[in-house]
Amino acid sequence: MRIAMIGSGYVGLVSGACLADFGHVVTCVDRDPGRIAMLERGEIPIFEPGLEDIVESNVRQKRLFFTTDLPKAVAGADAVFIAVGTPSRRGDGHADLSYVYGAAAEIAKALTGYAVIVTKSTVPVGTGDEVERIVRELRPELQFDVVSNPEFLREGAAISDFKRPDRIVVGAETEDARDVMSEIYRPLFLNQSPILFTGRRTSELTKYAANAFLATKITFINEIADLCEKVGANVQDVARGIGLDKRIGSKFLHAGPGYGGSCFPKDTLALVRTAQEAGAPVQIVETVERVNKARKKAMAERVLAACGGSVQDKKVALLGLAFKPNTDDMRDAPSIDIVEALTKAGAKVHGFDPEAMEQAKLIMKDIAYEQDPYDCAAGADVLVIVTEWDAFRALDMLRIKETMKSPVVVDLRNIYRPQDMKRRGFTYTSIGRP
Ligand code: UGA
Repeated sequence: MRIAMIGSGYVGLVSGACLADFGHVVTCVDRDPGRIAMLERGEIPIFEPGLEDIVESNVRQKRLFFTTDLPKAVAGADAVFIAVGTPSRRGDGHADLSYVYGAAAEIAKALTGYAVIVTKSTVPVGTGDEVERIVRELRPELQFDVVSNPEFLREGAAISDFKRPDRIVVGAETEDARDVMSEIYRPLFLNQSPILFTGRRTSELTKYAANAFLATKITFINEIADLCEKVGANVQDVARGIGLDKRIGSKFLHAGPGYGGSCFPKDTLALVRTAQEAGAPVQIVETVERVNKARKKAMAERVLAACGGSVQDKKVALLGLAFKPNTDDMRDAPSIDIVEALTKAGAKVHGFDPEAMEQAKLIMKDIAYEQDPYDCAAGADVLVIVTEWDAFRALDMLRIKETMKSPVVVDLRNIYRPQDMKRRGFTYTSIGRP
């Protein structure tokens, strides 16, 4: 199949590279000439384990191309994927669809024959209808179909999520469109990944429902963690105790500083807005959204409490800035709220992250960036673990203790054991554990 991928950001680049790896011929398009030039030089603009190798080998085998020339990529394609950003619209939280609709119009003008236009971007219910209307208006004579095919990959595990998905959801209204999509994903049926064909609107909603459910699961366990702290229970044991029930499942039950990233915060908000407008408010998700926002802000208070109520002129060392490990993505990262509150309270914040420091520097100007966890901790009044990078899981804590001003650790990801930390002489607080 000949595929054009419009948008070479996170989802576009990973999907394009993996589809090329399945044997399709894929051209990834981006309007940013700098990004395309980088990709053509074999440089990957994001940090994603395994992506560089797949891009390199498919470029070498002439199955993966990059261009800024959308019409050239689209002409003659069997399928054109739209994988552009759908950020929160300023002011009202609705998904901003201007990039999606802009791409639809450009695709319409460039198509030369029957093709399936596939929305991979996360888009609210009804977007496919509007894409179809835009294309039809510009090209009344053209044969085409519009399909919804949401992406469920996680940053940091994107390649394996794409190649071994729990399921593929395709919202298509015609047999021709279903045939093209089946052909595109055929290599995955061989792995027995289930493909679920639905109506287009159902598929669009499925994506939001999935993210909202996962965000709800995390927020639920975060609240249980707070309760554990009050009643002397252990949230990790509670999570295990409920997660072994197959109806609940053990994943996404790690209590922490609140979810962040490019998806959950914006997608929950967009679902809330869609549901309100449709007259069927999703009150659980409204609460999740509010509780999570407040939680991220409240994390700084734990640091203040660990420092005896004040961080004025104290050195706070933050380990981990990205919203989660194995990514350099800083979007809606809990570290941002924590740094803001601590700086306001008079702390001198120092930070270290294995991959996200360049991105962090663009957002957080008031902190000192350190070269490794040990430099970061040296002379600190408190060490705060914000992101659970593997590199932080087995630090030489005795070495850290020797160089810290006072041995205080706030572990927002529960990667150390309270009894071990106590034995090493730390004042240690974590999330939802006695
Ligand atoms: C999420 C979904 O997991 C993907 O399925 C989806 O495709 C993607 O959004 C998207 O819509 O594009 P992602 O944002 O990359 O993926 O990362 P997650 O691993 O889901 O983590 C999101 C946030 O939840 C992070 O801040 C993480 O630290 C937090 N989290 C996750 C917890 O606090 N506890 C958990 O148990 C799991």
